[in-house]
Amino acid sequence: MKNSQTRVLVTRKLPEPVEARLRASYKVSLNLDDKAMSKSQLLMAMSEYDALVPTVSDQIDSSILQAPDCRLRIIANIGVGYNNIDIDTARVKGIAVTNTPDVLTDATADIALLLILASTRRAYAAELKLRENRWNDFSLTEGLGCSVQGKTLGIIGMGRIGQATARRAIFGLGMKVIFYNRSIVANLDFAAEQFSSIDEVMAEADVVSIHVPGGGPSPLINASHLAKLKPSAYFINTARGNCVDQAALIEVLTTGRIAGAGLDVYANEPQVPEKLRLLDNVSLFPHIGSATMEVRTAMGMLAIDNLDAFFLGKTLPSRVI
Ligand code: DGY
Repeated sequence: MKNSQTRVLVTRKLPEPVEARLRASYKVSLNLDDKAMSKSQLLMAMSEYDALVPTVSDQIDSSILQAPDCRLRIIANIGVGYNNIDIDTARVKGIAVTNTPDVLTDATADIALLLILASTRRAYAAELKLRENRWNDFSLTEGLGCSVQGKTLGIIGMGRIGQATARRAIFGLGMKVIFYNRSIVANLDFAAEQFSSIDEVMAEADVVSIHVPGGGPSPLINASHLAKLKPSAYFINTARGNCVDQAALIEVLTTGRIAGAGLDVYANEPQVPEKLRLLDNVSLFPHIGSATMEVRTAMGMLAIDNLDAFFLGKTLPSRVI
């Protein structure tokens, strides 16, 4: 059943065309102020709405999904990652969950590339020098970065975004690619060697980029993995902050054990530890992997495609459970 009485709650502001389509199809509550909803607001909403459209900043945990008189039937998450949702509880409660894969693959790989270049070329320190009016003279020897051509990119997680990043690095930057993936990855349309352990990739690569889903019980990349990195290595994360032991990463950066990092995601967003913010050998972005108008619109439209299919009893385009 899909009709204008179906009640949909959207937790954050969405691009205008997405909001217009929701208004036209559903009895929708939009969040025009874009103020994050509190846990108690979310709890109360569970008995009032048939569908929830949240995103990475909303923690849809088991206490919310177990709210009394919960009438929610589907969570159409805006994001390919869904570690913000307690999938086990949703499954038990019979609530469908969908995500938004594919449409953000290129945009996220672009940000990984931007961070590879920004960190290896010391972009933050260079721009800061100019903005603080400390650029007094051209120098042939100061602030030198490291060229990536001919260097090795180690990819952890060779899924869609890992592959899109690898293609950019090989064909755009002239890098060589090695990778770790839990299962064997065959039929890649570019040359890349698969290694059987994270440690081997960490030890061999000049730049390591993470492309795995977040949300595991402990970080996939731990202190012992980070200890394997070369002193000249750079670490890039556009996946999820909890994929890496953030304290251990800060330690190898502050002690100069590795050369630098490029990060778009953090363990406890939007909090970014001061120790990290003070470092000039890291480029830090505020989780902007999918942040283009085109991509955010496509993510919103895919979430609505999932809602439409659900309420019409059709196959969901991107069902998680
Ligand atoms: C995603 O889609 O998972 C991005 O990180 C934005 O949430």
